[in-house]
Amino acid sequence: MTYSKIAGVGHHVPETVITNDYLSGIMDTNNEWIVERTGIHERRFIDPARDTVANMAAKASRMALERAGVKAEDVDFILFATITSDYYFPGSGVLLQRELGLESIPAMDIKNACSGFIYALSTADQFIKTGMYKNVLVVGAEIQSTALDLTTRGRGTAVIFGDGAGAAVLQPSEQPGVLSTHLHSDGRFAEELYVKDPGSSRPHEERQPEQILDTSGFKVHMNGNLVFKHAVVRFMEVIKEALDANDMTRDDIDLLIPHQANLRISNYIQQKLGLPDEKVYNNIMRYGNTTAGSIPIAMSEAWEEGKLKNNDRLCLAAFGSGFTWASALINWQE
Ligand code: COA
Repeated sequence: MTYSKIAGVGHHVPETVITNDYLSGIMDTNNEWIVERTGIHERRFIDPARDTVANMAAKASRMALERAGVKAEDVDFILFATITSDYYFPGSGVLLQRELGLESIPAMDIKNACSGFIYALSTADQFIKTGMYKNVLVVGAEIQSTALDLTTRGRGTAVIFGDGAGAAVLQPSEQPGVLSTHLHSDGRFAEELYVKDPGSSRPHEERQPEQILDTSGFKVHMNGNLVFKHAVVRFMEVIKEALDANDMTRDDIDLLIPHQANLRISNYIQQKLGLPDEKVYNNIMRYGNTTAGSIPIAMSEAWEEGKLKNNDRLCLAAFGSGFTWASALINWQE
């Protein structure tokens, strides 16, 4: 039986630090409100003159490849999770392929928002188990800052999100690495967290740039209260599903990395599961919610900090737009 394992992880975040005080200067908000409701102290925003989703992903990927001891030319499949691809089409996977100097290998984009990285990981796992690919680059990267309404009108959403990229290299392994993945969605809630435009369902006459009088459809719309209520339920369900599928209990988890949506959500899950602080990794304080980037960035930092060691049981869990939610249970292998 061939399994897949995570052979290396990397990340890259833009240089520009956006503090809560900076946001308080451009909209009616304040540090206390943001920290109390979200746990976020600062996030990174791109410099549009320098950063793209694909080039941030390339930096994260090079780090992951180096740590895995894999040359870029040995990558045989790219899976790119993002909802903020550089172009409306094509996806950013092909742009990453170009940045890495590769030609002809397949590149596929996955547009499942905050759950996107786990969806991509699950897809990579299947392709490795079947023997089709040997070095799969799995990426989650986003530029959220350019889609935020950075005025008081958008404050309920704008204070949460940030930019960044993370990557993992998956390889075949005789020892179990990825133990199981669990994917879900419920499209009834698609419009509760979404960016509407540029939507193909707009009538042709409304798609002419000069006809677009209301540009709010290009900004992130989020029903924060509803998202919160569904997130806490689905996170718990999908973590339990992963544990049950492997005949494990919460005591078997060495490290839980929840998608960094909101520190209150992470703290709620931690408390419900009864996990001690050292078993839950959070970095939302420094980066905000980087959507598909959040889990691989956190994995990379947790590994750097020595919090992921050989044979550790790592649980990943996510919830986001769609709604989509997902989990993965991994036997970490050095
Ligand atoms: N600064 C100051 N006040 C703000 C604010 C801000 N940035 N954003 C909203 N407020 C105000 C509201 O206007 C409202 O004022 P009112 O009571 O006078 O009407 C009050 O704060 C409460 O707003 P509400 O939206 O009910 O706050 P909340 O406690 O639900 O917190 C979120 C808002 C967005 C932080 C919270 O709903 C949340 O985290 N939801 C989940 C979001 C998430 O995880 N998204 C990603 C999923 S992947």
